This record gives sequence, C-alpha cells and structure tokens, in this order.
Amino acid sequence: MTIGVAVGSQTHVSLNHHPSITMSLRFDILTLFPEMFSSFLTTSIPKRAAEKGKADYHLTNIRDFATDAHLSVDDKPFGGGPGMVMMCQTIFDAVDAVEKQDQQPPTRILLTPQGSRFDQKMAEDLAKRPRLLLIAGRYEGFDQRISDGLKPIELSIGDYVLSGGELAAMVVIDAVVRLLPGVLGAEDGAADETFADGLIEHPQYTRPRDFRGMLVPDVLLSGNHSAIAKWRLEQRKLKTKEKRPDLWAQYEEKQPGSGT
Ligand code: ADE
Repeated sequence: MTIGVAVGSQTHVSLNHHPSITMSLRFDILTLFPEMFSSFLTTSIPKRAAEKGKADYHLTNIRDFATDAHLSVDDKPFGGGPGMVMMCQTIFDAVDAVEKQDQQPPTRILLTPQGSRFDQKMAEDLAKRPRLLLIAGRYEGFDQRISDGLKPIELSIGDYVLSGGELAAMVVIDAVVRLLPGVLGAEDGAADETFADGLIEHPQYTRPRDFRGMLVPDVLLSGNHSAIAKWRLEQRKLKTKEKRPDLWAQYEEKQPGSGT
C-alpha cells in the first residue's frame, strides 16, 4: 500500500490505495488547501489507520470545480458587508463528483464555527459510519444554500473562529480514526481514556520514581492491582470535579451517589 502526498490542485488525490474489499472508513475531504493535510494524514495514528486498511483518505480541491477564468470559489456577499462568501456552484459540483466515486453515500459534514460542538460522543457516532465527506471552507463563510441544499451535519470544534475549516476537519478525522477497531494497539487502547466514561484520565507516571524530589505515589509501586484501580478511580473523580465541573455534573447525574 502506498501513501502518497497530495500537492497543489491535483483533482482527486487519494493517500491510500489498498483494495476496497476491507471494511475501511472512507474520508472525502473537500478543501482549497489539500496540501495542509499531507503531513497530518501520513503521520502517526491517521497514517496507521490507513496502513491497516481501516481508513482511506481522498482529497479534493474545491478550486478544481471553478468554471470562470479566475477560478473563483468565493464572491462578495449580497446586501454588502466585509469579506467574501464561498459560492454554491463549486461546492455542489465538487460534492456531486466526489459522491459518484463510491456507491456508498457519505455522511456530509460542514466545518463551521456555527455548527454543533464536536465531542467524543459524536466521534463515536461518526466512527460507526462507512463514509464521511468533510467540507472545509475559507473566507467569511458559506452561502446559506450550501447548508440548505446539501443538508450536512454542521460541526464546530470550539467557540473561536479559525481561518478555515481544515484544522477542524483534521481534529474530526483524528478523533474518529483512533476509535476504529484495530487502529490502536492494546498498549494504547482508547477504552479507559478521558471521556470514555465521562471522567477525565487519572494521573500517569513513568520512570524515574524520583524526579527532582517529586515522587511517584507509593500505591503505583505497590503491585496491588485492586488498590491501584481504586486509587485511579478516586483520582479521576477528584480531577474531574476540580478541572471540569461541567463533566462532573453530568457524571453525577448519571450515577447518583458516586461522589468522592
Ligand atoms: N471554521 C472556522 N472556525 C471553525 C471552528 N471553530 N470549527 C469548525 N470549523 C471552523
């Protein structure tokens, strides 16, 4: 299997060419900057997911669907105002072309600061789907008819405005591929990570036992597995209560009487 590097405005760049007989989550990414994804998709867990045949990534440059001499993808907003708006035609044509490449219809996702807040639960939901089409925009935003016509799930990665949806698309891809069965090994499994059950992770320590006078808690060196498990759960509750009162409130609601 080869993982190539997407450059410039190549029309349909696939980073992965393994046979499609395997159960692989297909990601189609529509962007004006496919090159932003090259190192991300060819590094670490997203790369491993592709190598193991669990995910494949197809990048499409929206500008390849521009029809005028200037290869325009945006225009001034009707009604006036600052900035430029992503036009319908290039995005609709790109979506049509990409969707035809595979029989499986995708779940369409539009990355926008106006979308629902992306979280672990959504990542788990998306990881169960066979195909995801991510649309990353630039400029001041999208023509409203892109949302009205394509009816995508609109996702935001947080209440701040990025220069484009690409980083948000990478966040979604990363959170999803690490959940695909067989992508993480047993040694780095996702099951007991932060958010898996509504609590943040317990503190972790590695060698040395004494670093500049800061010691590893004795219980972790005791070899007593039930004492370690008890300590870790207590720590997770304490940390969640202290650092994420919002998560702690949800956790308590689900499991009354679970307080520390
Ligand atoms: N595009 C610009 N800002 C964004 C955000 N916070 N989330 C998703 N897409 C975006």
